[in-house]
Amino acid sequence: MSLSEKTIEIVKATAAPVAANAEAITTRMYEILFQSHPQIKELFKDADSEQHKKLAGAISAYAANIDNLGVLSKAVEKMAQTHIRAKVQAEHYPIVGVSLLQAVKDVLGDAATDEVLEAWKEAYFFLADILIAREKELYKL
Ligand code: HEM
Repeated sequence: MSLSEKTIEIVKATAAPVAANAEAITTRMYEILFQSHPQIKELFKDADSEQHKKLAGAISAYAANIDNLGVLSKAVEKMAQTHIRAKVQAEHYPIVGVSLLQAVKDVLGDAATDEVLEAWKEAYFFLADILIAREKELYKL
């Protein structure tokens, strides 16, 4: 599977406002996530206070490189390694995805049109599938 041209175009066009607001978006995302799924907080028990900044950096880097994902392979591997240490499971991804998209909507306001949210949804699940596949391999080791 690959990302549609339209999604790539929209994600690139919104990469700058998303990057400029990335910390606000990830802070809001954790708020939504922990409120809707308090049990997920347990997975973050060893996380440092900079965690939302790491996620913000990852989202910004992803948006900027959406048409050249090869450059992110090292970063993706590090994420997968961290995720398996924290016991992240495939079924957590849709929960985090819904929280992230709601956070994008809350922070970007009118700029987060249905078209923009749809493109980010596709982009999120595309990356999620890559991480899930790698984490599945790592869990088998
Ligand atoms: C596409 C989706 C995701 C992206 C881009 C992402 C990104 C990241 C990044 C960049 C890190 C820091 C890695 C490091 O520097 O070591 C991280 C760590 C982590 N992520 Fe994710 N993540 C995603 C999905 C998830 C999901 C679904 C969960 C499940 C709740 C999750 C939970 C965690 C946890 C618990 C940590 C470790 C925190 C710590 O102990 O420091 N992530 N993630």
